[in-house]
Amino acid sequence: MSTNYYKTKESVEEYIHLAKDVNGGELIKKLKKYLHSNATLLEIGSGPGTDWRILNEDFKVTGSDSSKEFLSHLKSKNPNGTFIELDAITLNTPETFDGIYSNKVLHHLEDKELIDSIKRQFDIVNNDGIICHSFWKGEGSEVFKGMFVNYHIEAGLKELFESYFDILLLESYAEFEEGDSLLLIGKKK
Ligand SMILES: C[S@@+](CC[C@H](N)C(=O)[O-])C[C@H]1O[C@@H](n2cnc3c(N)ncnc32)[C@H](O)[C@@H]1O
Repeated sequence: MSTNYYKTKESVEEYIHLAKDVNGGELIKKLKKYLHSNATLLEIGSGPGTDWRILNEDFKVTGSDSSKEFLSHLKSKNPNGTFIELDAITLNTPETFDGIYSNKVLHHLEDKELIDSIKRQFDIVNNDGIICHSFWKGEGSEVFKGMFVNYHIEAGLKELFESYFDILLLESYAEFEEGDSLLLIGKKK
């Protein structure tokens, strides 16, 4: 479901300010156990670019976002980086990658949209490719500040991903509170 929050300059600036002390460093440490350095990696929903900068230390990263505001921010802060406009559902790119990463992005998709995204991820990830995504943990969905948020539990994610990816790791972690988030790492079947 499309969300307008990330589309305006004001809300993008607000998000960058609110998220300034958060990053996916711990998730990326886990990803590095499964994906070799120098691998090509697509980041979906790079947003402020905090994780992109950490990923860029080890991988050949292509950053992406569906928000033009975030893309212009990403390009101006990282003039040597590669960034493309990409929707998480359609993933309409001719390129393929060794890995795909997102941190708190795919929860904006409804289940049906997430299934479409998973199928496209299968298409654009190379053989033995690795996916690594985080989600908010919980049940149901809500609209928060105009943003659609879809919560997931382990069993639901397993069911959605396991036709296309072997689940290598599926565990809860704390973003703000104990067990409020889930990390999934999978390998292309
Ligand atoms: C909660 S932010 C997370 C950003 C970044 N990964 C981080 O950890 O700070 C969600 C990001 O996903 C992007 N986004 C939301 N829906 C999207 C979609 N359908 N396709 C691609 N990006 C999307 C937003 O523009 C925003 O940059």
